Amino acid sequence: MPWCELSCVLPRDLADAVSEFLEAQGAIAITFAEDGDEALFEPLPGEMPLWRSPRLTALFELGVNPEAIQADLAARFGDKLTGWRRQILADRPWERVWLEHFKPLNFGRLWVCPSGQSPPDPNAVYLTLDPGLAFGTGTHPTTALCLRWLAAHPLSGKSVIDYGCGSGILAVAALVLGASEALACDLDPQALTATQENARKNQVAARLRCCYPEAMPQVAADLVLANILADALIALAPTLAAHTRPGGWLILSGILESQAEAVKRAYPGFAFRPPAVEDGWVLLAGQKQ
Ligand SMILES: C[S@@+](CC[C@H](N)C(=O)[O-])C[C@H]1O[C@@H](n2cnc3c(N)ncnc32)[C@H](O)[C@@H]1O
Repeated sequence: MPWCELSCVLPRDLADAVSEFLEAQGAIAITFAEDGDEALFEPLPGEMPLWRSPRLTALFELGVNPEAIQADLAARFGDKLTGWRRQILADRPWERVWLEHFKPLNFGRLWVCPSGQSPPDPNAVYLTLDPGLAFGTGTHPTTALCLRWLAAHPLSGKSVIDYGCGSGILAVAALVLGASEALACDLDPQALTATQENARKNQVAARLRCCYPEAMPQVAADLVLANILADALIALAPTLAAHTRPGGWLILSGILESQAEAVKRAYPGFAFRPPAVEDGWVLLAGQKQ
């Protein structure tokens, strides 16, 4: 079935009122996206941070009158709503559309491929990924920095903890690169489901355990990976430090360049290497003393 889409830019404080109006008009999906340069990172479950002036897009079944809905909205909210767009969309399997933009990605000796695609080199180490609703495809610089670190280091026989696993991409990558076992945790149930599914697809499920943070066993691993956010990494410092064995590595990502010193200060027992940087994001690799 074809669909029609109505879209406009609005101030953040009108997001609820406009969404409610559009739902009452029969909108079957409403999404918000950035309409400028303001970066937002991964929200916690239940949180929906919004840009100051997001672009709202509402999807309707063909048959509604988007011109009339636009005129109603303009009458209610006046010139606070701008940048109007209307279009008819041909029917497509929307949940798979992201794959068109997600091609096999290379991180040194590792390839990350969407389900159904293979790496250009059939002898390469690769993992197949379908992130579902969880964060982590390898396209975000914070994940890419971690994947590059994993691919550049010998992991054979190492134990790994992936703290804030999202899609499980880092735990699964470590396992296909030779780690002996991985423990993955996340606050978000969708992340745990996606991680288990991705481990199964890559034939490493038998070496992976998943749990919520509060159920983490008191173990110390050879390698601890945490791609979260600077504030969370600082708050989690005692936990992540305790999960790293002496001599083991702690890999911290999700940090802006301006935040790197503050994060390092929260981990006094670690010797950090010079940071790796991509698009303003920093990866800190520290060895526990
Ligand atoms: C940026 S995503 C990273 C996902 C994946 N590890 C990657 O590198 O692409 C951060 C993940 O951490 C989870 N998270 C945030 N705070 C957390 C906390 N305090 N404990 C455990 N997980 C947390 C989020 O739910 C999210 O799935």
